[in-house]
Amino acid sequence: MPEPYGNEEKGLYIFRKPRVSDGPDIHSLIERSRPLDLNSLYSYLLLADHFRDTCIVAERDGKIAGFISAYVHPSKNNTLFVWQVAVGEQERGNGVAGRMLDNLFDRPGLASVSFLETTVNPSNDGSRRLFESFAKRFQAPLVTSVLYPEELFGQGGHEAEILFRIGPFDA
Ligand SMILES: CC(C)(COP(=O)(O)OP(=O)(O)OC[C@H]1O[C@@H](n2cnc3c(N)ncnc32)[C@H](O)[C@@H]1OP(=O)(O)O)[C@@H](O)C(=O)NCCC(=O)NCCS
Repeated sequence: MPEPYGNEEKGLYIFRKPRVSDGPDIHSLIERSRPLDLNSLYSYLLLADHFRDTCIVAERDGKIAGFISAYVHPSKNNTLFVWQVAVGEQERGNGVAGRMLDNLFDRPGLASVSFLETTVNPSNDGSRRLFESFAKRFQAPLVTSVLYPEELFGQGGHEAEILFRIGPFDA
């Protein structure tokens, strides 16, 4: 298991697979993490249960400080699709999101994964920077394309979802 890390101000972070009992805290973290879409509590219970091998939480002082939901792409088994990334407001700017991604890709069970895919909303600088920085660390190409255009989301004012495909890299 990767080492916990931290600094004096923020204490130690532990990176681990989610547990079903984390579901309510993950749901609450996403609720506080605009502009992310809040899904049902049930969906976070399922992620923490059925998809625990491809999801990760960051824990600090027994509390959920960050969460990434991800799954192996159903038709590309060398590709991990990262769905939502959230870090608690007080914990941001500490490298937690980047470390969650790195820890996830360190898992022996994901050794055959050589691409990361995710979608980024055009106005979300933090999200874009997180994945650009990941691509740089892994020295992997990053290719972007429109996955789901704005029109698909109806009148709700939802931005387009831009696909970031990063890789190949050695997990
Ligand atoms: C986006 C988010 C996950 C970043 O978490 P974080 O732990 O603060 O990110 P990190 O500290 O690991 O930073 C990763 C990189 O992104 C950059 N970054 C992070 N937030 C940024 C922001 N708001 N604006 C510009 N750059 C940002 C960091 O400088 C760092 O770059 P570097 O590696 O070149 O130094 C967090 O702000 C969040 O939860 N936001 C709300 C939900 C959201 O928008 N999620 C993203 C959807 S995928």
